[in-house]
Amino acid sequence: MGKVFLIGAGPGDPGLLTVKALRILEIADVVIHDRLVSAEILRLSPQALLVDGGKQQGDQERIQDDINQKMLHYASKDLSVVRLKGGDPMVFARGAEEWEYLIRHGIDVEVVPGVSAALAVPALAGIPPTCRGVAASFAVIAGHRQHLIETDWSQYARVDTLIVLMGVENREHIAENLIRTGRPAAQPVAFIEHVVEQGSTPRQHVIETSLAAVAAGQIDVEPPAVIVMGEVVRLRSRWARVRELTDQARCA
Ligand SMILES: C[S@@+](CC[C@H](N)C(=O)[O-])C[C@H]1O[C@@H](n2cnc3c(N)ncnc32)[C@H](O)[C@@H]1O
Repeated sequence: MGKVFLIGAGPGDPGLLTVKALRILEIADVVIHDRLVSAEILRLSPQALLVDGGKQQGDQERIQDDINQKMLHYASKDLSVVRLKGGDPMVFARGAEEWEYLIRHGIDVEVVPGVSAALAVPALAGIPPTCRGVAASFAVIAGHRQHLIETDWSQYARVDTLIVLMGVENREHIAENLIRTGRPAAQPVAFIEHVVEQGSTPRQHVIETSLAAVAAGQIDVEPPAVIVMGEVVRLRSRWARVRELTDQARCA
């Protein structure tokens, strides 16, 4: 019987893969990957059969069944199978469900955690989730419809930094509910978009705004993006100004 490695690919840059993930990717027989895994990372497994496990909207359950069957199929042929997911496989990625499915079918599983976009994407944009004197707590939530129906918004009113994944489409609904349950309407918000242009390396695009403007439907943004709400968002511009002043002083 083969083995399945549940691996996190990080936010896109191959430099943010773990050393362990890289070593396994270089020798794997099969790599079943998600849509958000970058082409640069897939090129690290030229020897492997690459299987696209990307999910289309509305077709998730059928594709998930298909992915489960494929993992089972290749592992039972004594192959070394990588199930490669963007960010961390245990953060809003169905990694836990796949893990349980494999265990139930007697397949050996090894988890290799990845750098989650929830923390890495804001950090790369200059927004730390916590900062002494500014934010002492954070929460990460899923902003897709299914989760929103079950959400008790009041529990997020007092979390200093709120990070939302998969929330672009429901941004107005999310912002309205957060204001209604106690987050300040003037609170700063950042959308960090993952922009992929034909033939170029993905880049980040940051939109800074307020919770009130998001609730009012004034923000034009494309998924995928990480949304950050809280005072830490102001640090990005503050540090940019400090950098500018330091550079000017150095040149003078
Ligand atoms: C299904 S969740 C998977 C999260 C992933 N397992 C992780 O730990 O990062 C996908 C969501 O993560 C966010 N995301 C993942 N990678 C991103 C990136 N490079 N830039 C911006 N958002 C990203 C977006 O909100 C996207 O809709």
